[in-house]
Amino acid sequence: MERIYFDISATTPLNPKVGEYMYTLQKEVYGNPSSIHREGQAAHAVMEKSRRQLANVLNCKPDEIIFTSSGTEANNMVLKGILKSGDHLISSSYEHPAILKVLPSLEEWGIEITLVKPNSSGQITVQAIESALQDNTRLISIMQVNNELGCINPLQEIGEFAHSHNILCHSDAVQALGKIPLDLQRIPVDFLSMSAHKLYGPKGAGALFKREGISLDPLLHGGGQEGNLRASTENLAGIGGFGLAAELAAISLEENTDHINDLENCFLSHLDDLEINYFINGKNRIPGVFNITFPGEDGSSLVMKLDLAGISISFGAACASGTSNASGMLLDMGLSEADARASVRISFGKIHSRKEVKKVIDTIHSLIKHSQLTDAIEG
Ligand SMILES: Cc1ncc(COP(=O)(O)O)c(C=O)c1O
Repeated sequence: MERIYFDISATTPLNPKVGEYMYTLQKEVYGNPSSIHREGQAAHAVMEKSRRQLANVLNCKPDEIIFTSSGTEANNMVLKGILKSGDHLISSSYEHPAILKVLPSLEEWGIEITLVKPNSSGQITVQAIESALQDNTRLISIMQVNNELGCINPLQEIGEFAHSHNILCHSDAVQALGKIPLDLQRIPVDFLSMSAHKLYGPKGAGALFKREGISLDPLLHGGGQEGNLRASTENLAGIGGFGLAAELAAISLEENTDHINDLENCFLSHLDDLEINYFINGKNRIPGVFNITFPGEDGSSLVMKLDLAGISISFGAACASGTSNASGMLLDMGLSEADARASVRISFGKIHSRKEVKKVIDTIHSLIKHSQLTDAIEG
């Protein structure tokens, strides 16, 4: 059975060009980037090329990029490397677990935390952040794009607000890089977390942008790699693949956005043509990511039935899969428990076609009709 993978917010398949480049690196560039001999220098050159590629995409300096193993690691580095006992952190209740699950350790270290909630449109507003402000607020950490909704937060405003109060600002931009333009000369954040596998790059490669002049304690201690901020011999193929994936995503950002917008229109008009009852959660979304409620349905069972029919979508975020609990985030946004349970995340991208979009909607339509019929017979 040919499968349709509509879960690109969870992860993306590797771009074949990136895969080929990584294979060449694995075969041919085996030196340790810290070694001074020729093999080491060849590896070092690959790393610096990748750093420049990412810096070009973000409009920042190459030295402001620190390679990590993941977005999770980048988030941990900032929270654990900045905050000290007595500090206050403002973050949001709908951050990824790579932020939320760090918080208990911070509390044990004596750090105060306030989590602001998204509004009914799925955004974290500056007003909400302002109401959480304390004299000891040291860091504001708000994700740029939410992973369950695809909603974009007003990061420029949030950064400006933070700086006007002498507060550092971090954003988890794992779901944003490669999907929307990111200009760090315009967006005044101090730290930004990124991950390669969300933009058709490899898994196990991430990066942290750290603005020049801001100091950070390392999470990993050991060798002096990454300016003493991230010890360990570098994952050269992963880093090289990340740089290329980011560059390719930036080059075709406009073209991809147009294509995905076209798929979105097709998706929405086909839902309407088939008179499917639905509503979309959240406004100001990145293209191709829908948190969608089919009232009266059971979201987790819809995900399972679609999987059997060859279609992959998710019930909430990938990290929440395997549970059938209603998303707390949707409840925070004002959905009823029943509607939150009836919601799924569908995410598609540049690799998809109108034909696939229509097939997914047709299959959802027939599964909903079938479950309504079964309910009527049993009911
Ligand atoms: C918003 C967000 N932050 C962080 C992560 C974690 O990134 P990684 O898988 O590279 O650790 C993810 C991945 O799902 C994510 O969506």
